[in-house]
Amino acid sequence: MPSIVAYQASHFDGIRLLWRQAFPSNSPKDAAELSFPANLSMQPDLFLVAIDRDMVVGSAVASIIAGYDGHRGWLYAVAVLQSHQRQGIATALVREAENRLIALGCKKINLHVRTSDTPVIKFYQSLGYEVEEHVSMGKRAQ
Ligand SMILES: CC(C)(COP(=O)(O)OP(=O)(O)OC[C@H]1O[C@@H](n2cnc3c(N)ncnc32)[C@H](O)[C@@H]1OP(=O)(O)O)[C@@H](O)C(=O)NCCC(=O)NCCS
Repeated sequence: MPSIVAYQASHFDGIRLLWRQAFPSNSPKDAAELSFPANLSMQPDLFLVAIDRDMVVGSAVASIIAGYDGHRGWLYAVAVLQSHQRQGIATALVREAENRLIALGCKKINLHVRTSDTPVIKFYQSLGYEVEEHVSMGKRAQ
């Protein structure tokens, strides 16, 4: 099983390749080059990377925010190289992210998945996540 570690600068190229493969429809505004500084300036210990023999094979980014109803965690950018899928790597990444969020006082973990993305929904259901009936709304600030 790969090791799960916090992101380091030496992982940049591997993460960029992984995210290009895993999220081909992401807008250029979500590209690794632009989102890294934001991720790292927030909570660097919550940007997790799976490493197999010095190669980046997976990622998971978590964040936590305090609201009126307690601390909520969010999961983003959970991805595993196609060549390494169905080996439990994303499960290990999400479990580690969950443990780190819980240690920070997180009471609930949320995430967004496209309604059409049945394989990803099945993946999260295998980890105990449930589909909740919300409408997700958003707007680009810039
Ligand atoms: C979703 C993803 C992260 C899963 O990674 P993974 O390392 O293959 O997942 P795991 O091996 O930990 O899978 C655990 C369980 O989830 C379920 N699962 C995983 N991938 C699945 C798929 N394609 N179809 C159906 N169920 C799936 C299975 O129950 C699996 O257990 P099993 O292999 O014993 O049947 C990976 O497919 C991926 O990178 N997809 C592209 C990026 C993406 O869309 N990420 C999610 C949005 S942030």
